[in-house]
Amino acid sequence: MDKRERERPRVVLGVSGGIAAYKACELLRRLTESGHDVRVVPTASALHFVGEATWSALSGNPAGTEVWESVHEVPHVRIGQGADLVVVAPATADMLAKAAHGLADDLLTNTLLTARCPVVFAPAMHTEMWEHPATQENVATLRRRGALVIEPAVGRLTGVDTGKGRLPDPAEIFAVCRRVLARGPRAAEQDLAGRHVVISAGGTREPLDPVRYLGNRSSGKQGYALARTAVARGARVTLVAGNTELPDPAGVDVIRIGTARQLHEAVVKAAAEADAVVMAAAVADFRPAAYTTGKIKKVEGQEPEPVALVRNPDILAEVSAERARRGQVVVGFAAETDDVLANGRAKLARKGCDLLVVNEVGEHKAFGSAENEAVILAADGSETPVPYGPKEDLAETVWDLVVPRLADTER
Ligand SMILES: Cc1cc2nc3c(=O)[nH]c(=O)nc-3n(C[C@H](O)[C@H](O)[C@H](O)COP(=O)(O)O)c2cc1C
Repeated sequence: MDKRERERPRVVLGVSGGIAAYKACELLRRLTESGHDVRVVPTASALHFVGEATWSALSGNPAGTEVWESVHEVPHVRIGQGADLVVVAPATADMLAKAAHGLADDLLTNTLLTARCPVVFAPAMHTEMWEHPATQENVATLRRRGALVIEPAVGRLTGVDTGKGRLPDPAEIFAVCRRVLARGPRAAEQDLAGRHVVISAGGTREPLDPVRYLGNRSSGKQGYALARTAVARGARVTLVAGNTELPDPAGVDVIRIGTARQLHEAVVKAAAEADAVVMAAAVADFRPAAYTTGKIKKVEGQEPEPVALVRNPDILAEVSAERARRGQVVVGFAAETDDVLANGRAKLARKGCDLLVVNEVGEHKAFGSAENEAVILAADGSETPVPYGPKEDLAETVWDLVVPRLADTER
């Protein structure tokens, strides 16, 4: 194997026998196309859904299920030892039980015992199987030992059933894998494990009539990056999302809202149980004073009525002042166009939050872009500049600053 080959991160993709096994093909594709060396380890049950030929052809590696194949290579030890990441998607109820109890009766379960790298499980099963106390205890055991178990999504299951238990979108499982790999040795820390964080994202729309609204240019990308990075650090995440086209991040409870008042209600409700609240949404300060139930018509020879505005609730100030739990950490965002730092300091003092992420609105920054650049101001007077880069990098720095401040939060 040449050096270039060795430099590719090695990922083991474990596939267990659930109906969602076919979705693991897309995850595999994304992993290989982004330069990872992937070894697929399916269970015997998984091969009922997708055959060995598909896994080996797509990965370019053998895809055996048993410890008795290629014994001279000692695969039951080597595959796990050499991995930089193990991701099991879908993880069946049976696989979670075996992993929690340390069984080792096939190649995948052996690999899970020999791996010393981060391990991600993406469970998928019927709601009853997921909610069963046996499964929940197995999940708790795996999390306690440092595995990242992604909450299943809510939606269509096998056949006509719907409920919690659906495999999240493979592109979003891929995003979690990338975040975990990007954290390198720190991935094992899971410093948000056992914490509940609430994040708001996107922009609000304040209706004027059934077809028009007062909106803003927020894309939601920064809030979604915060949600993805929090999942990869082990948090339970509630995302209150306004008007964005972005797909639901894996493992996140997404609450969709439209207006500032709906966002206010959803954030205050979710914050009651949260350890941290991060307000990345662009919330309209004002809304039209009146809503016209029919479309406002153009009248020949007549100027339109001026639009009167009223103030919306100041959610950041309210959440900061009321702190639903002792020690709850509150983070705000401020998009400024001029006097950025001075305006940011004044806003931090006015709102009473712990941290304020101040970013300058400009071309290729803040709104719509995948990159951002900011200074994070803290109530204790410290300032953390975050250089221009992916919104995920800024999100990681926000969590780096939130984690030590959570120390005093009552659990
Ligand atoms: C059609 C069909 C679909 C199944 N889907 C799931 C599923 O989505 N999740 C699950 O936990 N088990 C599912 N099962 C049950 C598992 O295949 C069964 O528990 C098996 O023993 C799992 O083996 P493994 O964990 O070694 O892959 C399904 C079974 C069948 C026949």
